[in-house]
Amino acid sequence: MSLPVFRRMLWSLLAATAGSAAVLYVLYRWLIPAAVQRSSWLALLWHAVIFERVLDILTGSSQPQRMLKAVQKNATKGDPQSVISAIDHYCRNKEWAMNVGDDKGLILDSVLTEVNPSAALELGTYCGYSTVRIARLLSPGSKLITVEFNPAFAAVARQIIAYAGLQDKVTLVEGPSGDLIPKLRERFGVKSFDFVFLDHWKDRYLLDTKLLEDCGLLQKGTVLLADNVICPGTPEYLKYVRSSPRYESRYYKSNLEYTKLEDGLEKSVFLG
Ligand SMILES: C[S@@+](CC[C@H](N)C(=O)[O-])C[C@H]1O[C@@H](n2cnc3c(N)ncnc32)[C@H](O)[C@@H]1O
Repeated sequence: MSLPVFRRMLWSLLAATAGSAAVLYVLYRWLIPAAVQRSSWLALLWHAVIFERVLDILTGSSQPQRMLKAVQKNATKGDPQSVISAIDHYCRNKEWAMNVGDDKGLILDSVLTEVNPSAALELGTYCGYSTVRIARLLSPGSKLITVEFNPAFAAVARQIIAYAGLQDKVTLVEGPSGDLIPKLRERFGVKSFDFVFLDHWKDRYLLDTKLLEDCGLLQKGTVLLADNVICPGTPEYLKYVRSSPRYESRYYKSNLEYTKLEDGLEKSVFLG
């Protein structure tokens, strides 16, 4: 190959590389953020699938491990509020995660404080963010059972709950909610729950609510608080709690965690 031909090839290669890098940069800095702000499905696809997987490959770690690291680096042991702040800061500035988040978290705090439960149940622990939020507000002697079927998530959640100093208030049970709910009374001696936070896979909300009813784990006045009723959405559950004479239901409008897209919580009081 002659020198001029080689030079031309080299320049073409450099131009193609620079062009691709520029296109990727424009996509990453402007086009993707603009699209993600308009569509909740695009937001979930980008944050929870593409970006998270790319980070997994680049860092050789999982999102729960990265979140645990952020807690260990930035939060104070035994201080639940600092654990919550460390996770929120990480998820607002580094990577999105499916925690209930700071905006809806304030609604969760206020409903929980109003109910002041002695026995609370959480379906869907993930890394323990909402577990810490709930457990830190429980009165002395009150207990929270949280259910998670992914062992890797449960292992991280245990460490985050312990870091917050809340391990004595929380029992983390590993397994699928549908199998565990019928065993809760026998295994943990709970008669019924005063407060249930539904935040696991959305197609389980209705099934598990009916299971809780059938197992007699709801009593008159039990408050169910359901996350993500708009995004990704739980239409069948909403239809049920809003139309059933057994519930008095109210929607609390907010944002999908760490975004400006609409999402909200549904508070439903079981009337017996
Ligand atoms: C949205 S995340 C929970 C977030 C958490 N509540 C928070 O705000 O920090 C949902 C979690 O529920 C778990 N999950 C989904 N379906 C479940 C089921 N049927 N039983 C137990 N865990 C489940 C998933 O593995 C995931 O970790």
